[in-house]
Amino acid sequence: MTQSSAPVITIDGPSGSGKGTIAQLLAGKLGWRILDSGALYRLTALSAAKQGVALDDAEAVARVASTLAVEFVPGAADQPVSVNLAGEDVTLEIRTESCGAMASQVAAHQQVREALLQRQRDFQQPPGLIADGRDMGTVVFPNADCKLFLVASAEERARRRQRQLMQQGQSVKIAHLLNEIEERDARDMNRLHAPLRPADDAVTLDTSGLSIDQVLQKVMRIWSEKQAG
Ligand code: DC
Repeated sequence: MTQSSAPVITIDGPSGSGKGTIAQLLAGKLGWRILDSGALYRLTALSAAKQGVALDDAEAVARVASTLAVEFVPGAADQPVSVNLAGEDVTLEIRTESCGAMASQVAAHQQVREALLQRQRDFQQPPGLIADGRDMGTVVFPNADCKLFLVASAEERARRRQRQLMQQGQSVKIAHLLNEIEERDARDMNRLHAPLRPADDAVTLDTSGLSIDQVLQKVMRIWSEKQAG
């Protein structure tokens, strides 16, 4: 199998729709690689901030993106991947709300998106790839074998995020999280370049009110049906 013919399943959707968790579980089940493209935008933003580069300077941020010294270290079974930036473990630092908001700002620059494009496509290797993001099915892997678009109500996503933060020992008000989620959704959906939207051939799944296991079952069924043709 050549590198470019390795199968790809894309999972796009807004933050908190469950795509990260599902991507990780699906990659574990199939034994495939995973691309967390949001992490690349978060790393670009963090690296730019650390270097004192203004986030609205598209050209300078694109230079940061094209020279990112990043390493993804796979975790043990069902454990998240660790992320190193220039040798420093930034796994937790890139997951903060503020880093997410900065990532959404740098992601609006077309030059930054172009600088990260090939790096993302290089993840397509046998036995297969689960690609998680906003434009995986529309821009990065338009010929993907199976495209999923996960959605959930903003309220449910805010509640999920609050639970996640509580597990990390942080307490944040739901109204604040809801506000941040709605702001980020608006920026990601209304930007000019590669806005968040389902590909024409994507299957949209509403995960509101579903357990992770129920979503995973549905996704596995969709993938089996695709394979059966
Ligand atoms: O999935 P995430 O929350 O880690 O993504 C952080 C930000 O990066 C998100 O607000 C939008 C941007 N992003 C993007 O524009 N395209 C992607 N493929 C992935 C993320």
